[in-house]
Amino acid sequence: MLKGDPSKSKTTSLMQEYSALIGDAVLRQRTRLAERQARLEAELADRLKSEFIANMSHELRTPLNTILGFSKLLRDHENHRLPDAEIAQYASLIKESAEHLLTVVNDILDISKVQSGLYALDAFDVDIAAVLRDCVAAAAPQAAEAGVTLTLRNASSLPQVRGDDTKLGQIFTNLLTNAIKFTPEGGSVTVEVLEQGNGGVMVAVRDTGIGMAPEHIDVALEPFGQVDRARTRRREGAGLGLTLAKCLVDLHGGELMITSVQGKGTDVTVKLPPVHPVAPIEPREKREPLGNNAVI
Ligand SMILES: Nc1ncnc2c1ncn2[C@@H]1O[C@H](COP(=O)(O)OP(=O)(O)OP(=O)(O)O)[C@@H](O)[C@H]1O
Ligand SMILES: [Mg+2]
Repeated sequence: MLKGDPSKSKTTSLMQEYSALIGDAVLRQRTRLAERQARLEAELADRLKSEFIANMSHELRTPLNTILGFSKLLRDHENHRLPDAEIAQYASLIKESAEHLLTVVNDILDISKVQSGLYALDAFDVDIAAVLRDCVAAAAPQAAEAGVTLTLRNASSLPQVRGDDTKLGQIFTNLLTNAIKFTPEGGSVTVEVLEQGNGGVMVAVRDTGIGMAPEHIDVALEPFGQVDRARTRRREGAGLGLTLAKCLVDLHGGELMITSVQGKGTDVTVKLPPVHPVAPIEPREKREPLGNNAVI
């Protein structure tokens, strides 16, 4: 081809035109894909929100209906005299429903506070062994009633944990309540606590209960997520305890992990970080000698 050949400049301008067209097409396709992705995400968020609201209304309405129904019966006592035993029974059903309602409302508020970043934890040096002893003692009557053996292992001389003792108690109470609730009579629940190499603490809550299939573990961790609702319903609960426990462990800078085998049992492990990260210790001879005014 000769210099200044008009056919060459025509080819070049055609190529430029093509590449501009292809560039436009790629951009349009990318925009379409991004719009589609955003629409799908918005639809998913909407669906999750509607499911959350539907679940929440159900969990709030059920105990409220019990409270209204039985208080109406008590109010009509003047017209239809009720035996004392029945009055006491209705009053305790009202109390149980009100307590359940309070737990559900508190759990929902706590989870949404954590999710919106508004949850504040107290930060103390906590004796985790003492927290676990209290939780196990509080769960003992539930275990005895269910015919489940409850054991706490290795809970002496552990390092302290930085955190909020009430919330740490809430984490382990939720895990223990589940372990006992989902373990049939004659089974066992064991709480084991170990110091980790980094100075942190690992707590394992193990049960020999009904367990979960691996694909159900994520469901269990979702708000209102319950595995096998028919079986769970008989065991009561809103499906919030595990979500909240995980949120609170995350807030402590820890990790909550679940392993489970259907029909064999479940292990929930909580790892909590050390109070102060362990600094590498300098060899003795390299350290500066401490003077009278030395600050350690
Ligand atoms: N130890 C366990 N063994 C077997 N299944 C479990 C265990 N822990 C949790 N699950 C399953 O995970 C679900 C969610 O647990 P979660 O604690 O969030 O809810 P819940 O116990 O049903 O109700 P809530 O804790 O709000 O009273 C349970 O309904 C159950 O299906
Ligand atoms: Mg629970």
